[in-house]
Amino acid sequence: MNKLIQWVDERLPVVDAFERHMSKYYAPKNFNVWYVFGVLSMLVLVNQLLTGIWLTMMYTPTAEGAFASVEYIMRDVEYGWLLRYMHSTGASMFFLVVYLHMFRGLMYGSYQKPRELIWIFGMAIYLILMAEAFMGYVLPWGQMSYWGAQVIINLFSAIPGIGEDLALWIRGDYLISGATLNRFFALHVVALPIVLLGLVVLHILALHEVGSNNPDGIDIKKNKDADGKPKDGIPFHPYYTVHDLVPIAVFLAVFAIVVFYFPEMGGYFIEKPNFQEADPLQTPDHIAPVWYFTPFYAMLRAITFNLFGLSSQFWGVIVMGAAIAILFVLPWLDRSPVRSMRYKGWFSRGALALFAVSFVMLGYLGAEPATPIKTMLAQIGTAIYFGYFILMPFYTRMESTKPVPERVTTK
Ligand code: HEM
Repeated sequence: MNKLIQWVDERLPVVDAFERHMSKYYAPKNFNVWYVFGVLSMLVLVNQLLTGIWLTMMYTPTAEGAFASVEYIMRDVEYGWLLRYMHSTGASMFFLVVYLHMFRGLMYGSYQKPRELIWIFGMAIYLILMAEAFMGYVLPWGQMSYWGAQVIINLFSAIPGIGEDLALWIRGDYLISGATLNRFFALHVVALPIVLLGLVVLHILALHEVGSNNPDGIDIKKNKDADGKPKDGIPFHPYYTVHDLVPIAVFLAVFAIVVFYFPEMGGYFIEKPNFQEADPLQTPDHIAPVWYFTPFYAMLRAITFNLFGLSSQFWGVIVMGAAIAILFVLPWLDRSPVRSMRYKGWFSRGALALFAVSFVMLGYLGAEPATPIKTMLAQIGTAIYFGYFILMPFYTRMESTKPVPERVTTK
């Protein structure tokens, strides 16, 4: 075995790569539970790739055959139901762990210098993930696949001038049809997964270049021992590789419970109308995206007024786009001298708590049929969402912070 490794190593530096990224990569010793969602995102990514490849073997990407092929997978293919539910549950779990992963970043200032690029790659991953999930949801060709796609693609036609042509170009037809399904299939199973994988590699390489942040937001490279190793660091392998097995086991147990007992999650993971085949002549009573898109959908619907001669729908699209775009510039909005919420002032803490509550509220509102009171709440939630970011340069600079300790705390 050693000889084999040596033979390979002389031709490709695998030992060096292993040491650099695993056994000699020093990670802060004070990681807490918020630090497991990165590795869990990777686990879900692998699950999606594997179950996706196997689903592709039995799925038919045509308007005539898609719905029936999913039924065939569910009923006739051996363990086909397991493959499908692992993939559909995996999609929701992906967003769950990624949202928690991003929230950790907000709490501990992980996007701050020198980790801006890690955050930007993360945001690119998030964007691609949204496109990937949207296109995947169209593939079963159920009622919600069809009408959800209808709503989203119609958003593009709200863009003045080019909108109609753009929507036509995306659909590849005058209405959503087999041509649309076919291109979404190609993008969902080939193009976007490749981009996603590439971005995840870049995300990790950027992380390993500067090193991980930690719950105290302390730079562990500032305190090194005589051998030049960070005093507050421990080698990622074997310490964190073994340590991560526990959350992985817990996650897999939760995942199995969902897959085996609540795969539809009361209509939140797979919406009920999607058990009916797509019918272009019958609109479902209530169209709502899957839960992970609903905060943004609520912001879209919160814009109910025309402005400067442009439609409310157009402004809704702009607000939705801006809600994502503003996250990209987050590293430059936070002017705090400290990273972690542990040492930031009460204003930052209150703002983050309010932001989190209003984001969850927007998620709930986006899944519900609109009423005047719900629309008003969505408008308040949208204002809080943007207020959190736009006011950040001011409150992070003005508030008083607590002194940051020299060494990490391990409580
Ligand atoms: C497929 C999706 C993703 C995967 C597989 C992934 C993977 C990882 C891993 C393994 C880590 C190191 C462990 C950890 O800190 O948890 C990490 C760190 C990080 N990720 Fe992600 N990530 C993903 C998406 C995102 C997104 C969407 C963002 C934010 C927009 C993001 C922002 C960050 C940041 C800022 C760090 C550094 C955290 C720190 O050192 O405190 N990641 N990511």
